[in-house]
Amino acid sequence: MTDLARAAAMAFRRATSNDAEAIVRFWQDSGASMSVTDEAGYVRRVAQHPAAIFVLAVAGPEIIGSLLGTFDGWRGNMYRLVVHPRHRRHGIGRELVRHVERAFAELDVRRITVLVEVDRPGAMAFWSAVGYPRDEHVIRHLGIIRSRSVSDGS
Ligand SMILES: CC(C)(COP(=O)(O)OP(=O)(O)OC[C@H]1O[C@@H](n2cnc3c(N)ncnc32)[C@H](O)[C@@H]1OP(=O)(O)O)[C@@H](O)C(=O)NCCC(=O)NCCS
Repeated sequence: MTDLARAAAMAFRRATSNDAEAIVRFWQDSGASMSVTDEAGYVRRVAQHPAAIFVLAVAGPEIIGSLLGTFDGWRGNMYRLVVHPRHRRHGIGRELVRHVERAFAELDVRRITVLVEVDRPGAMAFWSAVGYPRDEHVIRHLGIIRSRSVSDGS
């Protein structure tokens, strides 16, 4: 597919709670790292959360890219940047970032944090290329609350 045809066939839109199952499938099919909250119940919850700017790249009914922005009242955060392997290196990741940045600008967000796995050199190169240099002063400490899933209904 030419770049022109690709651009004509695709669109960017906000995710809705109805997309939850398809988003999880898309992440699994695209080789994204999956964690405890990467299941439909949690995805549905964030898709309808007012602090979330959850952008999808779509080609017709097919999800080919995702990026979740959230504003916590202090900083912007970006999560779940994934582009389907068939569609990489065509600027979709960059365009997803710009979509979320425009929504952040409306909220007067100034500082944005992105978490990047150290064993994903392509992802690190991507973030540097789109204007997010590596911050050498910070490492992440991670806590997990062991509680029941939002999707089990109990
Ligand atoms: C990282 C990822 C989202 C990039 O999406 P993409 O649509 O291919 O990125 P773009 O085409 O917008 O790339 C923009 C620029 O980033 C850089 N870049 C992107 N992927 C790169 C790679 N694998 N290696 C080196 N540089 C890369 C390039 O400078 C690129 O510009 P160019 O193609 O003109 O050289 C995609 O590779 C992916 O889904 N990877 C697996 C999941 C993942 O690692 N997500 C990130 C979690 S933080």
